[in-house]
Amino acid sequence: MLKVTNLTKEYNSGDNKVIAVKGVNLDIAEGKFVSIIGKSGSGKTTLLSLLGSLDKATSGHIEIDGKDISSLKNNELVQYRRNKIGFVFQSYNLISNLTAVENVMLPMLFNHASVDKRKNRALELLEQVGISKEKQNRKPSKLSGGEQQRVAIARALVNSPKIILADEPTGNLDSDTGEMIFNLLHDLAKKNKTTIVVVTHDLSIAGKTDMAFKMSDGSLA
Ligand SMILES: Nc1ncnc2c1ncn2[C@@H]1O[C@H](COP(=O)(O)OP(=O)(O)OP(=O)(O)O)[C@@H](O)[C@H]1O
Ligand SMILES: [Mg+2]
Repeated sequence: MLKVTNLTKEYNSGDNKVIAVKGVNLDIAEGKFVSIIGKSGSGKTTLLSLLGSLDKATSGHIEIDGKDISSLKNNELVQYRRNKIGFVFQSYNLISNLTAVENVMLPMLFNHASVDKRKNRALELLEQVGISKEKQNRKPSKLSGGEQQRVAIARALVNSPKIILADEPTGNLDSDTGEMIFNLLHDLAKKNKTTIVVVTHDLSIAGKTDMAFKMSDGSLA
């Protein structure tokens, strides 16, 4: 479902050339939960950005469902990102002056659904990730870190993505809360057949995924 061939990303900053991702190959089946570990600076975030088409590879190919995304035009890439990929970040990235439910509705802004439909969908997802009714209309600052991450996960699920890319989603959480978020992602992968790629420093989390890869100096093992 997700096939990566010989993917390379070079950054040129001044006279320095950094090869952040070096000839990476990956083949991940639908519904698999995969983790990537590795030292700081080893290229994990860069790899996720390439997979999510937030950044363009220097060379190599990324195929999703047999379609090579490196050949997509810009407007097609936007569609791809919106409909196939959900992102979850370490810092939640919620909009602070919107409520939980408004944050979850945000990625549906471009859908041709009525406000009521969008709101119902957002409420249903919040329910699914365990955000109770009384918390749905709170702003992020009135929610705990774990709750904010649940909201962010609900938001990532809005357009029923095939793939969820999560960069250190438990990095700001204590280990119990981190484990709850991990279990939530795990259940989603299995229930919705969503493929999940999670970057983590937490070896106990990596040990529980279907496959664990180690990144070092841009290479994946
Ligand atoms: N926009 C950029 N321009 C130049 N170099 C960059 C850029 N982004 C990342 N790099 C470099 O690419 C390498 C990989 O960075 P990346 O952020 O992917 O690492 P990481 O594994 O996610 O690290 P961390 O665990 O600290 O988040 C590093 O050497 C970094 O300095
Ligand atoms: Mg990183």
